[in-house]
Amino acid sequence: MTVRSKLMVGNWKMHGSLAANAFLLSDLLSGMGGVNCLAAVCVPATHLAQAQSLLVGSALALGAQDVSAHESGAYTGEVSAAMLRDFEVRYVIVGHSERRQLHGETDIVVAHKAQRALAAGITPIVCVGESLSEHESGQTEAVVKRQLAAVIHSNGHCISEIVVAYEPVWAIGTGLTATPEQAQGVHGVLRAQLQAATAQADRVSILYGGSMNAANAADLLAQPDVDGGLIGGASLKATDFLSMLKAASR
Ligand code: 13P
Repeated sequence: MTVRSKLMVGNWKMHGSLAANAFLLSDLLSGMGGVNCLAAVCVPATHLAQAQSLLVGSALALGAQDVSAHESGAYTGEVSAAMLRDFEVRYVIVGHSERRQLHGETDIVVAHKAQRALAAGITPIVCVGESLSEHESGQTEAVVKRQLAAVIHSNGHCISEIVVAYEPVWAIGTGLTATPEQAQGVHGVLRAQLQAATAQADRVSILYGGSMNAANAADLLAQPDVDGGLIGGASLKATDFLSMLKAASR
């Protein structure tokens, strides 16, 4: 059985400034002693250059929050995978529920974004998750399987190179967290779906996201298929994020 290192990823969303980032990254880097999990921060595109230069040679990898589904061309405002690669971006979030809900991203668009990232040598963190009404009407499994199926369909040959993040929409920024058992239940479903697609499904990290914090991280991370976290609000506070990195390092 493959032993997966835990992977903890901060998603800064649309927060930060050059001044605030410098403090946050410096506090994070000075507190990384004893951290032996994989760790990354996904910063706004405008802050990639700053973060790249501050993180160079460190144990904190650089990530982005979105990538274009197109390779290059007349797509005003878009950022391509090759452009992210120029900044030594290691991970890119694709299909975050905020992009699916607020920017109309479909399963197919998300699958193409994952494809662009993989082609550029960047690991896509593919987000899946059900809304509150889908949760309440018992559709969780069907929704996450449909979302992941689109990515498997377009990227079957290299599907073991992706990271999956299960982010129940009702848990994002709400203070409501899936219980460890709920998270494991969905992660188990996703693992089985990956196993049907590749012999290397055990290599795929499946992260949990949605109000993960310093108090609940250890219990979530103790589940066999919870391989790390995708963390919003709590990743903006160095002490909280560091304590979560330490919880993942045991
Ligand atoms: P919160 O941790 O703020 O709930 O956000 C989760 C998330 O959306 C990470 O991508």
